[in-house]
Amino acid sequence: MLSKIKDIPVKKVREGAVEIYVPDPSKYRVTAASPVFYNPAARTSRDIAVLLLKILKPESAVDLLAATGVRGLRLESEAKIKHVYLNDANPIAVCFMKQNSRLNNSKAKIFGLRAHEFLAQRYKLKHKKFDYLDIDPFGSPVPFLDAGVKAIVEDGGVLGIAATDTSALCGTYPDVCFRRYGAKPLRNYLMHEIGLRILIRKVQEVGLQYDLALTPLFCHSTAHYMRVYLKSEKGTKVANSIYKKWGYFNDAGPIWLGQLWEPSIAEKMFVLCQEKSVSENVCEETKELLFLIKDEAKIGAVGFYDVAELHLSQMPPLQNVLAALKENGFAAARSCFSSSGVRTNAKKEEFENVVKKLKKL
Ligand SMILES: C[S@@+](CC[C@H](N)C(=O)[O-])C[C@H]1O[C@@H](n2cnc3c(N)ncnc32)[C@H](O)[C@@H]1O
Repeated sequence: MLSKIKDIPVKKVREGAVEIYVPDPSKYRVTAASPVFYNPAARTSRDIAVLLLKILKPESAVDLLAATGVRGLRLESEAKIKHVYLNDANPIAVCFMKQNSRLNNSKAKIFGLRAHEFLAQRYKLKHKKFDYLDIDPFGSPVPFLDAGVKAIVEDGGVLGIAATDTSALCGTYPDVCFRRYGAKPLRNYLMHEIGLRILIRKVQEVGLQYDLALTPLFCHSTAHYMRVYLKSEKGTKVANSIYKKWGYFNDAGPIWLGQLWEPSIAEKMFVLCQEKSVSENVCEETKELLFLIKDEAKIGAVGFYDVAELHLSQMPPLQNVLAALKENGFAAARSCFSSSGVRTNAKKEEFENVVKKLKKL
């Protein structure tokens, strides 16, 4: 077992079905300044990518900003993707990727290029366009979007995009959000959902320049990051149908007003993570998230209500609120964005009446 890679003390850790070397966590904090980045707290983001790609079964996948290579190696090992490409501009990351690839008997192809250079050189590869491209930057994905969108297969290709500039997307710095994403964010209980919808619209805008319609299949806002997965379709008609679903909500926007999740995919991901052989590679946080999203995805409403925002002297149990809404003929489910959040097709006043009546019982 290695104790150092390039003079950097390392530890072997297991994540999902792979083992990887990472900079010794007792010596390096999880920051962008670490010699190679590995954040165990972002495990859910990788579990979700694995589950989604197990369902979509792409032939090729790129981890454009791969660091230790953990994401791409998991996609190869768990989602059984045949052609995996790992790339990172940091030469130390390349050494880690090579060792980690060896450790897992991986056939992934490893590159040490700047992201744009890698994407520009793809014409030399077997896959001139990729079925899946993962963009997992420090901060905003905006600098990588144009080259990324052009590198995915036009029909059916999928982009997985992360953003950690949540202070912009969630309204702490509205000017930054406007400059970067061209939209006004919210700074209240809805900020995570609105942030995701701002990010989705921005990626879609880049796709539309090339007559590509990018439709969200899945997204989540977890801890310090947001993630969206979008499927591409080429054609002017379908591209036009995208921008017709942009608009404003509670004074925020422009945002994507369409679906955040493809309900059948959310359901399949949930079922999959219960299967024994898959379950052991997926953490509890991921399972809990999918448990919520499989139901929430079925409710098409934009935004949700937060029972805590009603400032009641005593909060009714959430399952009673859901049951009462359903008894009154509304669709309702818990929201993954807040522990007291309810997504429903009821109007605000209808929702409040149901909750207030419930309190009197
Ligand atoms: C957040 S980390 C990626 C984490 C990794 N995907 C995971 O799941 O563990 C971002 C990585 O992007 C790399 N990077 C930053 N800018 C880059 C660029 N322009 N081209 C290629 N790699 C870059 C950094 O070296 C870093 O390893």
